[in-house]
This record gives sequence, C-alpha cells and structure tokens, in this order.
Amino acid sequence: MEGKNRHYVEIIKRNTDRLINIVRDLLLLAQLEERGAELEIEEVDLKGLAEQTIRLFDAQAREKGIILKFESPNDLPRVHADPFKIEQMLINLLDNAIKYTDNGEIGLVLARGDRHVIISVHDTGIGMPKEKLSRIFERFYVVDKSRSRKTGGTGLGLSIVKHIALLHGGEISVESAPGAGSHFYISLPVRSGDGSAGPLS
Ligand SMILES: Nc1ncnc2c1ncn2[C@@H]1O[C@H](COP(=O)(O)OP(=O)(O)OP(=O)(O)O)[C@@H](O)[C@H]1O
Ligand SMILES: [Mg+2]
Repeated sequence: MEGKNRHYVEIIKRNTDRLINIVRDLLLLAQLEERGAELEIEEVDLKGLAEQTIRLFDAQAREKGIILKFESPNDLPRVHADPFKIEQMLINLLDNAIKYTDNGEIGLVLARGDRHVIISVHDTGIGMPKEKLSRIFERFYVVDKSRSRKTGGTGLGLSIVKHIALLHGGEISVESAPGAGSHFYISLPVRSGDGSAGPLS
C-alpha cells in the first residue's frame, strides 16, 4: 500500500478500535447497571488472578520504562466474587496507572483485613487535583481533556470499576495529588453476593 494510504488506513483503524472500546465499555456498564445485575460468583483465588492480570501489562510497562510491582500475603483468603468482573476492574485500574504515569513504578498490592481484602493500585504518575477526585467515577468524566484526546481516554473505565466494587458489596476510594501519583483502594468483602457480607471498614 502507498505510504499516504497506509497513513489514512492507520488513522481509520485507530478510530475504529477506539469506537469498539467505547461500545464494549458502554455495554458492560449497561449490564452492570441493570437492576438486579447478576454476578457469577465463585470462590476466587484473588492472588493468582491479580498476578496473572498484572502480567498483561509487562510489555507496556517495559516500553515506558516503568517498574511493575506485585505484593500479596500468602495466606490471602479466597473471595466470593465474579472473577471476570474482578479482572475487568483490575485491568481498568492498571490501564489508567500505565496511561497516566511516565516514569517510576506501578504497584498492585493485596492485603487482608478482618472480613475483607484490600486491593490497592498505586502509581508515581501525574496525579489529580483534590477537587476533581469526587468526579472521576462519573461516566465520561476526564480530568485533563487535552491529554485524554491524545491517550484516547473516554472516561468510562473508573465508572466500570466503581460499579463492580459496589456490586460485590465493596467500596472504593482514592488519594492523589498533582505530580505525586495516585493510589486507589478497593475493599471487597471476603464473602459477597451471598448475603453474608459483613460491615466494611
Ligand atoms: N492513575 C491515574 N492517574 C492520574 N489520573 C487518573 C488516573 N486514573 C484516572 N485518572 C483520571 O480520571 C479520569 C477518568 O478515568 P477513567 O478510567 O474513567 O477514564 P479514561 O482512562 O480517561 O478513559 P477509559 O478508561 O474509558 O479509556 C481520567 O481521564 C484521568 O483524568
Ligand atoms: Mg481508564
């Protein structure tokens, strides 16, 4: 193919991929928002799932020169959760961490609480101003529109993450400051979806 044509085909391909991603995210969100949305609850080995998921980002991290870290206690309890949705949640958080970090490190850390596990994702990236933090879980909300145009962000990822956490009876919070990186925390009850979720701390 001639150089110029190839250039246009690449632009079309990029835009098509972006549209496909938006449609996929909107479908997932619609499904998560349905009244009585169904989780396919199983006993999940969260440590194994998280370790597998972070590996998906090895190549991207290497390309950007970012270090990926994973930590989990060996005695992390199995959680009652929907493994596909938990994976989606981790992918969205890690995708953001990579996208909004130019150097340094990204960490995925699992820890156990009394009746819940804590999943945290931190990065040494651009961070966000405090006054924006309450809005980032809204759909289509992006903090920096000019950067999002370049990176292709639509603002759907974190609303998917929040929905998934809440559907599991969990909670999500974030700490961040401009230039100081971001830290997302998700608390998941060890037993969710079967009515025996304990109070979250
Ligand atoms: N780790 C992070 N560091 C800095 N800013 C972040 C981080 N995660 C999210 N943000 C900000 O929050 C906004 C919303 O995030 P969200 O994942 O919902 O959307 P997106 O990444 O822009 O697009 P999408 O996930 O739909 O591709 C982002 O546009 C970005 O401004
Ligand atoms: Mg995102």
